[in-house]
Amino acid sequence: MKKKLVVLSGSGISAESGISTFRDAGGLWEGHDVMEVASPGGWHKNRALVLDFYNQRREQLNNVVPNKAHFALAELEKEFEVQIITQNVDDLHERAGSTNVLHLHGELKKARSIGDASLVYDWEKDIQLGDLCEKGFQLRPHIVWFGEAVPMLDKAIGISREADIFLVIGTSLVVYPAASLVEYVERGTPIFVIDPNKPSMVKLKNCTFIEKKASDGMEELIKVLFQK
Ligand code: APR
Repeated sequence: MKKKLVVLSGSGISAESGISTFRDAGGLWEGHDVMEVASPGGWHKNRALVLDFYNQRREQLNNVVPNKAHFALAELEKEFEVQIITQNVDDLHERAGSTNVLHLHGELKKARSIGDASLVYDWEKDIQLGDLCEKGFQLRPHIVWFGEAVPMLDKAIGISREADIFLVIGTSLVVYPAASLVEYVERGTPIFVIDPNKPSMVKLKNCTFIEKKASDGMEELIKVLFQK
């Protein structure tokens, strides 16, 4: 039976594809205060601004492609049962060929009803004011904003518990509850962390830190995994 490799990825894995990370640019996200564009309060204050912001992010996906790190993870499915838990709202893991991707913080290419959270639609184009769900409610980005519950959390915890190997790649691990997932990894399970800057959780036992960018770090990880 294949070993289960669980991956927790963050915006750093998409940096080499040209998508900016959240906290590397002085607290601004593409020039915006994150609370303005990624919180229920921001939505309440200015829906048009929020929609426009995410429309730009969705549009940006047409101009970027997965990088070597995304492809390396997809390739590892040949040898491992790979389950990706990503905080990213882009679709680069899927476009690289990964088949088990759980989006903890939502997906840019989906829209959701503000009146019935179970109504979620695949959405490639812009979301406009006046775009309504079948029950007549406005659509919003299918994104978990600051201060909102994380509906996929329990599933992600279950997956983390079952890991034979756990990889953290490209996340500063400052946002909870995502950052807490490492705490559910069974004691004794090896944890690898790929990041050019050391996240604070690297003090964990059984943790090997690979201080590199995602693509070079994946190359190194593959060497280590196949040595054993
Ligand atoms: N390769 C790997 N890691 C990189 C690279 C790279 N080329 N460039 C930067 N990094 C690392 C940074 O060192 C940092 O540790 O990626 C991490 C990015 O951290 P954040 O900007 O905090 O992003 P992330 O951890 O994904 O944020 C989590 O916060 O705003 C919310 O919901 C949003 O999902 C997001 C969550």
